[in-house]
Amino acid sequence: MLSGKRLLITGVLTDDSIAWHTARVAQEQGADIVLTGFGRGLSLTRRSAKRLPNEADVYELDINDPAHMDALVAQLDDRWGGIDGALHAIAFAPNDALGGEFLDTPAESAGTAFLTSAFSYKTLAVGLRPLMLKAGGGALVALDFDNSSAWPAYDWMGVSKSALQSVNRYLAQYLGADNIRANLVSAGPLGTIAAKSIPGFVQFENLWQIRAPLGWDPRDPEPVAKMACVLLSDFAASTSGEIVHVDGGFHAVAAGDTEGLLAVASAVEGDED
Ligand SMILES: NC(=O)c1ccc[n+]([C@@H]2O[C@H](COP(=O)([O-])OP(=O)(O)OC[C@H]3O[C@@H](n4cnc5c(N)ncnc54)[C@H](O)[C@@H]3O)[C@@H](O)[C@H]2O)c1
Repeated sequence: MLSGKRLLITGVLTDDSIAWHTARVAQEQGADIVLTGFGRGLSLTRRSAKRLPNEADVYELDINDPAHMDALVAQLDDRWGGIDGALHAIAFAPNDALGGEFLDTPAESAGTAFLTSAFSYKTLAVGLRPLMLKAGGGALVALDFDNSSAWPAYDWMGVSKSALQSVNRYLAQYLGADNIRANLVSAGPLGTIAAKSIPGFVQFENLWQIRAPLGWDPRDPEPVAKMACVLLSDFAASTSGEIVHVDGGFHAVAAGDTEGLLAVASAVEGDED
């Protein structure tokens, strides 16, 4: 499906990272891959790169550092002379922007969450655009968590995900004429380092057990990785500005099945006794 595609995969930290699984599936589907790593996590990224089916090179990228972006583009230009696609798997929010501090979060922390988790998708797109133009077009994919309703604790990261959805639509608008597509995969909860940094995130996993009609395994990023690869491939050639949910069907139902509701009710009754 990705034979001959030259892909940049950001956001690999461990081999639990959604990006690591996307890189793995993409290699299995014939893609040539490079990874980026960030800050103190760079050595972890290098270690994870060795565990891929084919060891991948790792370039440094702090998405908020313009010098890093310029250097990365120059390295990719030297290496490939063009690029066919990229995965944006980058998010960060300071502690005081998460975990129930919503009303007290300072503007600076909310701004950091927005800059790193949403605006950065535009940064990546604009940086890679000249290389995608050389390839005759390209595909951008970023990772969303559905924030169409407010969540407990997700707070300014949730607001940043809503912004990411909007950034995705504007990228589709402004880059369509260059034959560059922009899409999101909206994933259910997965037990990665980023997820574990969100207080109470484990409760999301419990909710998914009750509500997702297809069921959901928070230890298995492969379904999300596979959809990211579909969107990076020519199978999605006329799809842009889209959000594809890979969440076991969670987003489509209000309350799960009767059995799940009864289980919640009896747990609540148990707590009251
Ligand atoms: N895990 C989940 O439940 C879940 C669900 C939906 C969406 N997502 C999204 O998936 C994406 C990947 O997260 P993950 O869950 O695989 O966790 P992860 O911790 O493995 O990945 C997060 C990545 O963001 C990178 N990063 C943070 N700040 C950066 C910066 N300034 N420059 C460059 N990179 C930076 C980190 O180095 C790390 O590789 C994130 O956008 C996350 O919000 C995760």
